[in-house]
Amino acid sequence: MSSDSVTPRTERVDFRATSDPALLEGSDRGEVQLLGYGELYSLWERQQWAVQDLDFRQDRIDWHERFEDDERFARMYGLSSFFVGEQRVAAELGPMMRAAPREDMRIFLCTQIADEARHVAFFDRFYSEVDVLGVAGLEERLAATSEHLNPEFGVLFDEMLSRRVDRLAREPEDVETLVEAITIYHMVIEGMLALTGQHFIIDYNEREGTLPGFVEGFTNVARDEHRHVAFGARFLRDMVQEDPRHRDAISRTLAEIAPVAEGVLRPRWAPADDDEEVYGVSANATRAFALRALERRMKVIGLVAA
Ligand SMILES: [Fe+2]
Ligand SMILES: [Fe+2]
Repeated sequence: MSSDSVTPRTERVDFRATSDPALLEGSDRGEVQLLGYGELYSLWERQQWAVQDLDFRQDRIDWHERFEDDERFARMYGLSSFFVGEQRVAAELGPMMRAAPREDMRIFLCTQIADEARHVAFFDRFYSEVDVLGVAGLEERLAATSEHLNPEFGVLFDEMLSRRVDRLAREPEDVETLVEAITIYHMVIEGMLALTGQHFIIDYNEREGTLPGFVEGFTNVARDEHRHVAFGARFLRDMVQEDPRHRDAISRTLAEIAPVAEGVLRPRWAPADDDEEVYGVSANATRAFALRALERRMKVIGLVAA
């Protein structure tokens, strides 16, 4: 198992094209050319993909004929926070988009809303065609999946993120709250939690030779997430340069969120065991990977000395 962020996948030209600092060694020295908002939009146009093009026939066979009951449960558990998480982030992004202070930022965030909707559609089609839960309908699948989330997931989305997004819906000119929301959404939820889980889940399936349709789609999801995180890094760097007080808002928010984010990365059946493995990786290794990615991004934003 490699805990380094450099894999054949993340060395791909299309992954590096996002300018996500976590993928680029220059970030360790604070030397990364982040894309501008218009460039990120153009990249989105070039990086389209379609859920309907994926083929889940082998995935269905793997799921029902190759996996034992306990493996099916562990995999279903591991994916539940992604399925529900995609639905939550899609729903929260509207007020954040409207609160962005510049038109080019808003246009990029509109593309991200479309991406998050596509990610929900991806999970819904995978769950449906593989028959992961034995229930029909998107709402029903989301409800059944939500039963497997840990309590920290609810705190992170329903309290910490929702509170800021509700405020932005009422007061879209509140830039400080937008800085806090982007810190939670782009740096923690996408940058630390989603991309870390995606990295290990894709690696595990590639090593085991399982779920080829899922791996193809989830790799596209990960590339989208790197582009979203690159937007977040660019936005936070620009906001800090405009007003150094935003630096405190980012630090304060990261400190508030850290213990909750840490809890989300742990499996519910072994919350205190640092060596318990999920997808072949311990909680310690997962945390180290997430923190290294965060540190690189913070160096490029200018919050941590390079
Ligand atoms: Fe997503
Ligand atoms: Fe995203």
